[in-house]
Amino acid sequence: VKIIRSIPKMQEYARALKKQKRSIGLVPTMGALHAGHISLIRQARKDNAKVVVSIFVNPIQFGPQEDFKKYPRVFAQDAKICRHEGVDIIFYPSVKDMYKNNYRTYVFVEKLSQNLCGAFRPGHFQGVATAVNKLFNIAQPDRAYFGQKDAQQAVIIKKMAEDLNMPVEIKVMPTVRANNGLALSSRNAYLSEGARQDAALIYEALDLARSLIKKGDYKTADIIGAMQKLISKNKNIKIQYLLIVDLKDLKPIYRIKSGVLIAIAAFIGELRLIDNIVVDRKGRFISV
Ligand code: PAF
Repeated sequence: VKIIRSIPKMQEYARALKKQKRSIGLVPTMGALHAGHISLIRQARKDNAKVVVSIFVNPIQFGPQEDFKKYPRVFAQDAKICRHEGVDIIFYPSVKDMYKNNYRTYVFVEKLSQNLCGAFRPGHFQGVATAVNKLFNIAQPDRAYFGQKDAQQAVIIKKMAEDLNMPVEIKVMPTVRANNGLALSSRNAYLSEGARQDAALIYEALDLARSLIKKGDYKTADIIGAMQKLISKNKNIKIQYLLIVDLKDLKPIYRIKSGVLIAIAAFIGELRLIDNIVVDRKGRFISV
């Protein structure tokens, strides 16, 4: 695996591949790679001649009170994983190269960025969309890979690529889970063993929603009520939001008629976790 830190060098490499008509798959990450990232890398490996993994803890997507400073940074370990997975390039830019002193340009996907997590993390999705747009312009991927765990992020990035005519295919891969159902996340590193066990209830609640839909229960207020009741059994978990929304505009719906995103954000102690499932009217898993 080759490590490229310079933006112009990365662009030069991408340009050379384009000339040879060889495809590029980009897996944008903030590092602390886990099995979820690995599933993205493996899909990218299957689909493309070359695989680029970017590792960049993007400061502009963190709020002032959020964990930018303490976000796990484990480059040596990440590089080892990339080497093992046959990644061609790790793109590892610095913050000051990505955002020069006179940096002024942001990408904002309206409406979709303002509800769900957006309501609680103002500026977050603008930070994500801006960084991802920059990474696309730098690595010039034919395809880019994101995890469904961040479903709202995936919907926003797809919309950005569509609206701005970006010549890249956005692929969203299923959430990878631990044995107890907990969705893998780099932030799980912050969880104690006890908290990790508490967190399993979040997926249990999503699974309960799915079984209710399978039985033909389409009233979202009932489903949400049942989920809240289940989660309230554990006093260590505090729900921030629990919503059933339309897949296109991410607006809450009252009766399930087609595919829906069931999304939850909850605190376990100080740590905020998010999870979701995307299902059709029969309760079958579908993609965002
Ligand atoms: O999902 C992430 O790790 C980040 O939000 C991303 C897409 C790399 C943008 O910084």
